Amino acid sequence: MFSRRTGWSRAPSALQELVVRRGGPLLDLTESNSTKAGLSDPSLVAALGHPRGASYRPEARGVLEAREAVAEYYAARGLAVSPEQIVLSASTSEAYGWMFKLFCEPGDTVLVPEPAYPLLPFLADLEDVRLVGYPLCREEGFRAELDETARLFGVHRPRALTIVHPGNPTGTFTRRDEAAALAALARRHDAALLVDEVFADYAHGPLRADRLPSFAGGTEALTIVMSGLSKVALAPQLKLGWIVVSGADEATRAEALERLEVIADSYLSVATPVQLALREILNAVPTLQARVHARLAQNLAALDAALAAAGSHSPLRRWPMDGGWYALVQLPRTRTDDEWLERTIDAGVLVHPGYFFELATRGTMVVSLLTDEAVFAEGIARAIAVWSEG
Ligand SMILES: Cc1ncc(COP(=O)(O)O)c(C=O)c1O
Repeated sequence: MFSRRTGWSRAPSALQELVVRRGGPLLDLTESNSTKAGLSDPSLVAALGHPRGASYRPEARGVLEAREAVAEYYAARGLAVSPEQIVLSASTSEAYGWMFKLFCEPGDTVLVPEPAYPLLPFLADLEDVRLVGYPLCREEGFRAELDETARLFGVHRPRALTIVHPGNPTGTFTRRDEAAALAALARRHDAALLVDEVFADYAHGPLRADRLPSFAGGTEALTIVMSGLSKVALAPQLKLGWIVVSGADEATRAEALERLEVIADSYLSVATPVQLALREILNAVPTLQARVHARLAQNLAALDAALAAAGSHSPLRRWPMDGGWYALVQLPRTRTDDEWLERTIDAGVLVHPGYFFELATRGTMVVSLLTDEAVFAEGIARAIAVWSEG
């Protein structure tokens, strides 16, 4: 009765089983829901109740004033993006699905970074798209391995290459030369660049000069930047994302936008009240993000202090990153990831194993810096005590 593409395994993961077995509350260092982390602004929701949202204005690309508000968001970051380059969606996840529809026939390949956020395989399955990972080299700060990526282009003829910028969970912003090389590869193979910039506002301090702040200015390839309120305004529940089409030549951009308009018109998925409140919501972003930056900095300092307190002979290391909401801690490879997880959970602390993100290196644990400061301080101290025992 059911399609093969929906035949996913729904068995509980090893992590879920460990959590259930232990029972009782845990210090959760995986929190990335801003509405639970006490960082969202509940008063933003009031902007949706304005009577202006009572009439329906179906506009496939999104109502003009909302797209203008997104263009202003980019202008505030020094990027010239016009409302004509923008299409609204309900979320970045939906935007990924639309991109797979736009560029792929069933069975076509899209290259995705490895490691990366584990949502993409489901979105790809739903569109009958095959994902192939291109490796990010940890020793080089998660830089894309260009020779291998070029080889994958030759073997799989992908329709698009995805860049998560900055990476989740790596926190690496793409270098300028790396971005240019990936764009050149995509261009040469007539493929699009799909760039997920949901965390692009979260650099830890000034971004290094060799890092690209955003792809929204375009590259030599057709460049699709995706972001949205979920991370930008700490409001995943408002369900509004956006797509910026840039790069390549005018005719290719116009073709992409016109086809995208038909896809968007088939769903008309973004609610009118949130579109009409968008300027008001985006105006609150600097204040909202200032609180997040303060929390990320405090938790990162707590993590580094706890690692330093473990002593100079401790094998525990934090991997360098440029930004984002996560930190990666490398443990000794004396135990499997599941053994480390079990010990951590037994100590009452929840973290994510690196294998959730297809991290090839064993013994990497991922913690969310978005966690409440008090929970983070207590949780990381307990976790590091366990990890230091070896
Ligand atoms: C890298 C990345 N992309 C996309 C998403 C999904 O964003 P949205 O809520 O806009 O679908 C997430 C959510 O955590 C994410 O981490």
